[in-house]
Amino acid sequence: MPHFLNLNEMTPNELRDIVSHAINSKKRKSPNSIAVTSKNAPLNGKIVAMIFDKPSTRTRVSFDVGIKQLGGQSLILSGSDTHLGHGESISDTAKVLSRYVDLIIIRTFEEDALYELAKNADVPIINGLTNATHPCQSMADVMTFEELRGAITGKNILWLGDGNNVCASTLHAAGQFGFNFTFSGPESLNPKPKYLEYAKSKNILVNIDPDPENAIKDADLIMTDTWSSMHQKKELNYEARQKQLIPFQVNEQLISKSKDEAIFMHCLPAYRGQEVTSDVIDGKKSVVFDQAENRLHIQKSILEWCILGRL
Ligand code: CP
Ligand code: NVA
Repeated sequence: MPHFLNLNEMTPNELRDIVSHAINSKKRKSPNSIAVTSKNAPLNGKIVAMIFDKPSTRTRVSFDVGIKQLGGQSLILSGSDTHLGHGESISDTAKVLSRYVDLIIIRTFEEDALYELAKNADVPIINGLTNATHPCQSMADVMTFEELRGAITGKNILWLGDGNNVCASTLHAAGQFGFNFTFSGPESLNPKPKYLEYAKSKNILVNIDPDPENAIKDADLIMTDTWSSMHQKKELNYEARQKQLIPFQVNEQLISKSKDEAIFMHCLPAYRGQEVTSDVIDGKKSVVFDQAENRLHIQKSILEWCILGRL
């Protein structure tokens, strides 16, 4: 079953095909693409269920629009308004939904729930973010870099701040697409060892540099994300965390130390004045809205790959 669960489980060729297909399809896109679904559209006659146990703007809307542009139909569900959130098991839910729909996208908490769904479903499953990973985002990030700067292989990517779920998928992408990765953040928020070890096993340079001004000098791509992810909001001591993270804020002073051609990405939503200042996110190195747009293009490519089993 062609699931899209995590980037380390796929082949480099599959990932490369998904990115190339997205870049080529975007070039061919008509300005009014919502209206152009033909009988031969890849998702014609297909129904996709999307389960969102956490909020989402980009993932939810870009998948919904992408499904429709490819000729399919979508249902948006949340754990709390189905029996999934009230005691029905994931495996029973997977078996039932597989009798109704052709593909399931899930944004949830524990990554085990994603794998339990995939193990029991007879239709492809797409990971729309878990506490641990966010592979669709990292594919859009690779696509955006390659559109703007050419091949990402061999380039230097710097992640600043919290070594979170998006950072983990960036490490998977580093291993698969062959780019070098540096993390600069508080030691207690380093990416989990299993993601660092995975990237290291692929013969790329993986560094931890606690000095952001040194780390930024060689970066071709500078990335950050919120200092508190959705699953952490309740448990955090904000003041202590803020204090730990403030040296890693992406502000004008820090970014002025980067190369002229370096670009800045943030998966969004951004908390201006915390992990990034407005002058940077609205500044000339920022490509955050191209990155957000590319969620649509890459997700259409992922949907086609899952439904057709090839591109
Ligand atoms: N970047 C991202 O996944 O955004 P949403 O939470 O809005 O889907
Ligand atoms: N790390 C963030 C990403 C949001 C798209 C979170 O999990 O909340």
